[in-house]
Amino acid sequence: MENTVNTTPETKKKRVLSMIQPTGMFTLGNYLGALKNFVALQNDYECVYALADLHAITVRQNPAEFRKNTLSAYAMMLALGIDPEKSIFFIQSQVPEHAQLAWVLSCYTQFGELSRMTQFKDKSSKNADNINAGLFTYPALMAADILLYQTDLVPVGGDQKQHVEICRDIAMRFNNIYGDVFTIPEPYIPPTGARIMSLTSPENKMSKSDKDPGGCIYIMQSPDDIMRCFKRAVTDSETGHCVYACPEKLGVTNLMQIYSVCTGKTMDEIEAEFDGMGYGAFKPAVGEAVVETLRPIREEAERLMKDKAYLEDILRDGAERAAYAANRTLRKVYKKIGFVQI
Ligand code: TYM
Repeated sequence: MENTVNTTPETKKKRVLSMIQPTGMFTLGNYLGALKNFVALQNDYECVYALADLHAITVRQNPAEFRKNTLSAYAMMLALGIDPEKSIFFIQSQVPEHAQLAWVLSCYTQFGELSRMTQFKDKSSKNADNINAGLFTYPALMAADILLYQTDLVPVGGDQKQHVEICRDIAMRFNNIYGDVFTIPEPYIPPTGARIMSLTSPENKMSKSDKDPGGCIYIMQSPDDIMRCFKRAVTDSETGHCVYACPEKLGVTNLMQIYSVCTGKTMDEIEAEFDGMGYGAFKPAVGEAVVETLRPIREEAERLMKDKAYLEDILRDGAERAAYAANRTLRKVYKKIGFVQI
């Protein structure tokens, strides 16, 4: 039939999936490395986004805070521009198929390959008193998240690349045994912003677990606080010269990346803009660019958080749509494995 879009395999949009843990507030790293792309991809892809609350309990959470943070995170993602009309947007624990497929996939994942995960080594050294089995099998759950939706593309920051690679290995192993059950996904890492570093120790990733509160910027932070953090950002002992990707200038490289993603300017343009001006002018300019990028998001999130009825409606609808798609894949997997079907 004429004028029918996206129904034939040739015109079908590719599927994008990504998730984020709803612990604490989202950081500037989460935003520039991942969330900004989530929004941009919605126009050209069929997108599935979720809050990975099952992943979050690999670290102990305070129940009341966790519930509140999850709802705030949901509102924040809507404020960022996740459009529930265009994308499926839900909370992971509300779609039981994730936990169900994760168990199956964990039986097709080797102890040795899980032991090689950098994030497991990193997180277990930081949480030495709680190295639980979930922390270890986390990549099998992440693989389930991705494979349930027959995902083509997974937008993530550089730190999650290894998890997407193990997901590909698990999917290929499964397909080799049972036929083409899963689409093999590709990671999508942004060219700039894939690894936003701490403002005070630029050799480390910007992270909520940063010991120094000045190193991490949060989406909901006040403009004054953000400006203070940028003015104190570590640069180097030279008298100030913006040069990109110089190994001795990790702090400046990081600030230039942040400025570039916020303003859309190239590294050459930034070098020219601040030529001969010194870090005293550069650092507050980066702060201003971040404040202006985050201001409308913060205001809209605050408005949405007060509209509980709207949030609940969107949440329910997102979970239903996700479950419908996820269940199709899970049924297929169960059948292939040989589970009795009723
Ligand atoms: P999470 O919650 O740690 O981070 C969410 C996203 O933000 C990116 N990110 C960064 N990017 C650049 N610079 C930084 N400093 C920075 N910090 C975080 C992360 O790479 C990620 O893309 N396991 C995942 C969540 C997850 C998931 C999935 C992702 C669960 N299931 C399926 C993709 C597909 C995680 O803990 O991300």
